[in-house]
Amino acid sequence: LVASFQPKSLAGRRVLITAGPTFEPIDPVRGITNLSSGKMGYAVARAAREAGAEVLLVSGPTALPAPHGVRRIDVQSARQMLDAVMANLKGQHVFIGVAAVADWRVANASEQKMKKTEGGAPPVLEFAQNEDILATVAATTSVSGWPYCVGFAAESENLLGYGAGKREKKGIPLLVGNIGHHTFGQDDNTIILFDEHGHTVLPRADKLTLARQLVLEIAKRIEHSAL
Ligand code: CTP
Ligand code: CA
Repeated sequence: LVASFQPKSLAGRRVLITAGPTFEPIDPVRGITNLSSGKMGYAVARAAREAGAEVLLVSGPTALPAPHGVRRIDVQSARQMLDAVMANLKGQHVFIGVAAVADWRVANASEQKMKKTEGGAPPVLEFAQNEDILATVAATTSVSGWPYCVGFAAESENLLGYGAGKREKKGIPLLVGNIGHHTFGQDDNTIILFDEHGHTVLPRADKLTLARQLVLEIAKRIEHSAL
């Protein structure tokens, strides 16, 4: 109740968020995925909606319901996620890439279910690199100045070094870093914000609390920009 009387930091803003894992097919009944639960991305979507934004969530397969008032597009593969993002990018003020997008898809996926044979050799999978959705969106920003791009990075080591480097490489103003095995599937997280001034640690908290803090940080940074 109290929250509903507070000024809404993202009122009038349109926010596009990716969340969850992607699923890269091997054949019609099998595929490759990762350990993302979608909890962080869904928390960010909920927090952005609470802050008054119009939120579109492009989600890989998760077990989560769409947050109240959030429009969701369901996808499976990284390519489908890229297509859904690009088709809905126009007019967005903020893009937040929380999804754990598969870096590779199976290049020799089978159209029919693969069958094992008695004593036969196991299949050999070939991989092709998926396009970088965040970098593709960030590249469009150089034309209009929008959307404000935020990335997430899950590392397993050297978060401070990799986080700062990844922000630069992706060409984005804000990158959120976390340690993969401290967050995947869990309700709590510790995140570090990397921007052009350096980094800020947000102490361990539940994902919704962190998501609300992140939304405020984003709102502050776009406060005086008009589309
Ligand atoms: N990302 C993306 N498309 C991809 C790969 C990553 O949009 N094909 C986005 C993620 O949603 C995240 C950010 O890029 O916001 C960082 O993802 P991460 O996997 O940490 O970085 P990579 O550039 O893929 O580098 P690596 O996995 O080798 O560390
Ligand atoms: Ca990656």
